[in-house]
Amino acid sequence: MSRTDEPQDQGTSSGNDEKSVLYGGTSDELMQGHSYDGIQEYDNPMPGWWVWLLWASVAFAIFYFVGITYFDWINTYEDDLAESLEELEMMRQAHAEAEGESFEVTEVNIEENYVGFEEHIAAGRETYQRFCASCHGDQGEGLIGPNLTDQHFMHGGSNVDIFQVLTDGVAGQGMPGWENSTTPEERAQLVAFIRSIEGTDPPDAKDPEGEFVERS
Ligand code: HEC
Repeated sequence: MSRTDEPQDQGTSSGNDEKSVLYGGTSDELMQGHSYDGIQEYDNPMPGWWVWLLWASVAFAIFYFVGITYFDWINTYEDDLAESLEELEMMRQAHAEAEGESFEVTEVNIEENYVGFEEHIAAGRETYQRFCASCHGDQGEGLIGPNLTDQHFMHGGSNVDIFQVLTDGVAGQGMPGWENSTTPEERAQLVAFIRSIEGTDPPDAKDPEGEFVERS
């Protein structure tokens, strides 16, 4: 093995200029100044855009490191997480409000804002047909479930009593709870509907069950 500093075969013997340039015979700028076993290397600078990109990444890395470690320019993962959680909490609250989790389950609220209001009764009737008629009859006359048109109640006859029965159901007695499938507003509308059919005495009405509760 011989190693020389000079190219051994540059293939330039022909004197052809193009060839000389190609093999590095004419200009040092084209070739690196070394040769191993006659193997030479073109001096091929990286393209400008590539070098630019490299330095840009280096600069960005420094900026990023300093920014995230020493200054508050860049959010850490924990910051981002905390921000997102806060956002989520706000969305939850907004949703809860829209869903009426802040619904006031009081005698007065249901009585003064739902009972007797045509639009609430109509909405309640719709919900009733969808969820309740199969057990309490189309007109509330009672089937599997008790008659809802009389003034007798097993679980209390106040607006709030009825609202609570609708919310929780009656465990083990065949009355499902509706907390998950209706909003509080819809349950208040159902109360309004039940109030509206009180005393209608529909055909085939089931006998009253429970205690008589006088409407105040
Ligand atoms: C699967 C059948 C079924 C469905 C559906 C059903 N109920 Fe009932 N409901 C019952 C039964 C059975 C009872 C009696 C529970 C008991 O014996 O304590 C009852 C009781 C009630 C009571 C209490 C009555 C009282 O005397 O205190 C109300 C009010 C009522 N249901 C309203 C509704 C409304 C409104 C819906 C629709 C959202 C509904 N129910 C859907 C079966 C049902």
